[in-house]
Amino acid sequence: MSRHLTAVEGVPVADLIAANWQEIWAFQAKPGDLLIDTYPKSGTTWVQEIVDLIRNEGDAEICRRAPIYERVPFLEVMHLMKPGLEEVNAMPPPRVLKSHLPFQLVPPSFWKLNCKVIYVARNARDTMTSFYHFDHMVTFHPDPGTWEQYVQRFMKGDVGWGSWYDHVKGFWEKKDKHNILYLFYEDLKKDPLKETRKIMRFLEKDLPEEMLKRIVHQSSFNQMKENSMSNNSTFPMEILDHTKGSFMRKGTVGDWKTMFTVRQNELFEEDYRRQMEGSSLKFQVAM
Ligand code: A3P
Repeated sequence: MSRHLTAVEGVPVADLIAANWQEIWAFQAKPGDLLIDTYPKSGTTWVQEIVDLIRNEGDAEICRRAPIYERVPFLEVMHLMKPGLEEVNAMPPPRVLKSHLPFQLVPPSFWKLNCKVIYVARNARDTMTSFYHFDHMVTFHPDPGTWEQYVQRFMKGDVGWGSWYDHVKGFWEKKDKHNILYLFYEDLKKDPLKETRKIMRFLEKDLPEEMLKRIVHQSSFNQMKENSMSNNSTFPMEILDHTKGSFMRKGTVGDWKTMFTVRQNELFEEDYRRQMEGSSLKFQVAM
């Protein structure tokens, strides 16, 4: 499998995504579809599980009907795995789909139909730390190299799906013009019940408090880690090499401190200020 990145409209993505770009861009959303969009490693799978549990009123058995990547198809990777485009096209709406595409590359049919979008953002340092470990597993991304090299690449946006800075700002700037619920990984960690209630309301569901609490428990890190339908351990080996790491790695806030040197942190902060200058988007970073 090619390990190169190719720019689509200036955004580096895996060759295999770029090669199918026309088809991805032409994807037809259906009325009522929900898109979960994130920069990679920001809590996508967690929110996919919460959404599926809410839609199925906390029924854990129904949510074990298939692995999470089949319950929530991956938009720009559909041509590489099941369910493929034809199967997804045949699914009755309302469907739930996942994507890591930045705002400007989301297929226009989603916006035309005013589809709901849940966006999850995670602070840059933890996202990069998680991505560095994950990129050892991803077979269609370049080898991550050393941590120092990876920090440089991340700051330049030279990683799969491009710049974290542009991604989180892109959705932030558009969130009030579209049907976008903008969430933060750190909030989900701090008060999962409150954030899960937000998601429930966005989905126009009204579940009893006890059911919501059960959903929070079922979607907690430890529960998902033990559940082979939620932990991505069966994600096709052609795309994720499970011998190189574990998808459900730590699930914490502040793990970046185990990786950054003091000097790297200073340089990162300086660059961060420059890249986020003028934006009202603020993250809670455990310093
Ligand atoms: P770490 O690598 O820091 O552990 P994504 O689904 O967007 O790829 O994000 C993966 C990250 O979310 C991983 O972070 C993973 O451990 C974490 N994660 C997955 N499920 C979680 C949960 N229920 N609670 C907290 N973190 C979770």
